[in-house]
Amino acid sequence: MKIAVIGSGGREHAIAWKLNQSNLAEKVFVIPGNGGTEKNISIDVNDFTEIKKFCESNDIELIVVGPEVPLVDGIVDFFKDSSIIVFGPDKVAAQLEGSKIFAKRFMKKYRVATGNFEEFTEINSASKFIVEKGGNCVIKYDGLAAGKGVYVCSSIDEAKKALSDLKQKYGEEFNFLIEEKLVGSELSILGFTDGKNIKLLQPSQDHKQLLDGDKGPNTGGMGAFCPVPFCDSQMLNKIQKKIVEPTMKGIKAEGFNFKGVVYFGLMMTKDGPKVLEYNVRLGDPESEVVLPAFKGDFLKLILSCFDGTLKDFQMEFNNGYFVDVVLTSGGYPKAYKKDIPICGLDEAKELVFHAGTKKEADKFLTNGGRVLNIVAHGETLDNAIENAYEKVNGFYFDDMFFRKDIGRRENY
Ligand code: AMP
Ligand code: GLY
Repeated sequence: MKIAVIGSGGREHAIAWKLNQSNLAEKVFVIPGNGGTEKNISIDVNDFTEIKKFCESNDIELIVVGPEVPLVDGIVDFFKDSSIIVFGPDKVAAQLEGSKIFAKRFMKKYRVATGNFEEFTEINSASKFIVEKGGNCVIKYDGLAAGKGVYVCSSIDEAKKALSDLKQKYGEEFNFLIEEKLVGSELSILGFTDGKNIKLLQPSQDHKQLLDGDKGPNTGGMGAFCPVPFCDSQMLNKIQKKIVEPTMKGIKAEGFNFKGVVYFGLMMTKDGPKVLEYNVRLGDPESEVVLPAFKGDFLKLILSCFDGTLKDFQMEFNNGYFVDVVLTSGGYPKAYKKDIPICGLDEAKELVFHAGTKKEADKFLTNGGRVLNIVAHGETLDNAIENAYEKVNGFYFDDMFFRKDIGRRENY
C-alpha cells in the first residue's frame, strides 16, 4: 500500500518511521516533510487540490494527516468521493479541536468530566464575570490559535490584560470562553477510533514551557515521556469511566464521521481527571514517544479503524519508558536563526526524529525553532532519561538549547 503523511514536524517523521515498519507499507511519502523524512513532496499542507492531484497520480490509497489545520478545514470531506481513505475526523467532528465552545458543549451534553465554563461574545460582560471570580480563571479564544489563544490567569489584572490582548487581536465581538481554573498534573491520552470503539496508546506527558521546572513561555513542546508512572491502572479506570466512555458515547450518538485519533488533554485534579481540551490528531511531541512505545503494526491499527476490526485489535506495548528531549534554536519561541549546520547526524541513529531541519547537498541545516527530537528507551524512567541525555551529547549546532529536566516532573 502507498501512503502519504501530511505535515513536516517530529510527529510526522515518527508517523512515517512507524508506518515504514509495516509489511503492508510499500511506499510512504511525506507532504511536505523535513530534512529527516524521505520521499518528500513539496506541497503546502493546506493545498487540498494539489495533494489530491499528487495522491491520485501516484496510486496513494491512504492519507495520514498530522496537523490539525487541514482537518479543521475539511481535508476528510474534500476526499469524500475519492477512493483514497483519509485518516482523521471530518470537518464537523474536527470542531472538537477547532472550536473550544463546540467541545465544551459536547462535554456538557455527554457528561464528560471537565471544568465549569461560561460562553461570551463581548468584553464588557466578561469583565464583570472576571471580577466576580477574583480573576482566578482561564480565558480561551473559541477558534484555533496555534497555542496562543489560552490565558491562564491568577488575578483580576492578569485576566483584564488577557481580555485586552484578545480585543486587540479579534476586535469588540468574538466568541470566547471563561473556564474554571483546574489544578493538578497534566496528562495526554491518545486513542484510535473508528467512530464507535477506541483503543488507547500509553499515557504520556509533554513539557510545554521553555525552561526547567516548567517555567518560562509556552512553546510547541520541549520534550515528552511515556508511560507516566503516577498513571496506574486505577487512575486509567477512572479516566475510562469519566472521560473516554462518555466521549465515545457522544461521538457515536452525534454520528460523527471520525476515523482518527482522539487526544484527551487531561488535568488530574483532586476531584479526579478532567478534560482540558480535545485534539483530533496525534500530539507533538507525544507521538515521538508513544509511537516507539507501541509494539504492534501501526498501519494495521490505522486500517482497522476503516474495516470494522478495531474492536478486536490487540494493543501491545514495549516494556520500559521512552523519553524525548527536543533540541531547539536559541531564541525560540521568539526570533531565532536558521540555516545553521547540525553536527551529529552523519551516522544513522535510531529514534532521532527531525522537526525544523532541511537537507542541502547531503548536509543538515536548522530550519525551525524546534529542530530535533532525541528519543531514548530505558527499563526505568531514570534509565530512559539518562540514555536520552547521553544521546543528546552527540549533537551540536550553534545556539542549540534544550531543557535539562525532561521526565523529572516529580521533582517540582
Ligand atoms: P488548551 O489549548 O485548552 O489545552 O490549553 C493549553 C494549556 O493551558 C493546557 O495544556 C493547560 O496547561 C492550560 N489550561 C487550559 N485550560 C485550563 C484550565 N481550565 N485550568 C488550568 N489550566 C488550563
Ligand atoms: N503536545 C500538545 C499538542 O500536540 O497539542
